[in-house]
Amino acid sequence: MTDSIALKAAVDAAMRGRHAVRAFLPTPVDDELLREILAVSSRAPSGTNLQPWRVHVLTGAARQALVDAACALHDADGAGETPEYDYYPREFFGEYLARRRKIGLDLYGLLGIVKGEGARMKAQFRRNYEFFGAPVGLIFSIDRRMGKGSWLDYGTFLQNIMLAARARGLDTCPQAAWSEYPGLVWRMLGFGETDGVRAGEPGAATGAEAGADAGSSVPNQRRNRPPSPLALALVGSRRVSWGLSAAAAAAAAAV
Ligand SMILES: Cc1cc2nc3c(=O)[nH]c(=O)nc-3n(C[C@H](O)[C@H](O)[C@H](O)COP(=O)(O)O)c2cc1C
Repeated sequence: MTDSIALKAAVDAAMRGRHAVRAFLPTPVDDELLREILAVSSRAPSGTNLQPWRVHVLTGAARQALVDAACALHDADGAGETPEYDYYPREFFGEYLARRRKIGLDLYGLLGIVKGEGARMKAQFRRNYEFFGAPVGLIFSIDRRMGKGSWLDYGTFLQNIMLAARARGLDTCPQAAWSEYPGLVWRMLGFGETDGVRAGEPGAATGAEAGADAGSSVPNQRRNRPPSPLALALVGSRRVSWGLSAAAAAAAAAV
C-alpha cells in the first residue's frame, strides 16, 4: 500500500512537473544518465511490439554542427526545404485556433514581443534550432514505410523520455520545429535510403535540465503561467470520456 501511494505520487509528480522548457543551462548531461533514460523509456508500449521509434542523440560537436546548419537554413527562410508531412492542420479552427493563439501570445508576452514584430518572432523561433541552449538534442525518426499507428507508438516513447527525464531532475522540450527541415536533418545525420529511415519525420528534440533556467535571459513559460484553461479543459473532457465521478473530476481540475 505504501509502495503504491509512493508510486502514484512519483508518477503524478513527474507528469505535473513536466513542462515544455525553452531555456536551458549548458551543463552537460552524463552519458550514463542519458542511456538510462532511453533504456527505461523504451519500455513504452507499441502495437504488436514493433517498437518503431529511433532516436539519435546529439551532444558536443555533432549537436553544434546540426545547430549551425539549421540556424543558417532558418536565416535563409528554410530555402529548399519542404516538410514531409503536416504536423498541424492546414487551417486552425475553433477552439484549436484559440489555443494556438494563446500559446503564442503567452510566449511572446513573456518575451515582450508584440504583434507585428516579425523579426523578433522569427528570432525566437530560431531558438528551436539551437535546442533552446540544451546540451543534448534528440532527433527521432521512423522508417517511412511504417503506418500511422507507429506514430502513436512513437508518442508513447517520447512521453516516456520526457517523464523519465523529469524524474531525474532534467527538463525537455518536444520540438516539431525540426520536421520543417527534413532534408537538412537527413543529410546531417547521414541517414541512408537503404535502411528506410528518413529524418525529419517526427522532428522532436529534447534537451536537458534548465537548472530551473537560472541565469537564462529567456524566461520559461511555465514560470509565469498559472494552470491554464487549456489544461483544465482537457481535464474536463477526460471526465466525459472516462466517466470520472464529479468529485474525482473536481479534484483533478483543482490540481
Ligand atoms: C509533438 C510536440 C511538438 C512540439 N513542438 C514544439 C516546437 O517545435 N517548439 C516549441 O517551442 N514547443 C513545441 N511543443 C511544445 C508545446 O507547445 C507544449 O507542449 C504545449 O504548449 C503545452 O505546454 P507544456 O508542455 O509546457 O505543458 C511541442 C509539443 C509536442 C507534444
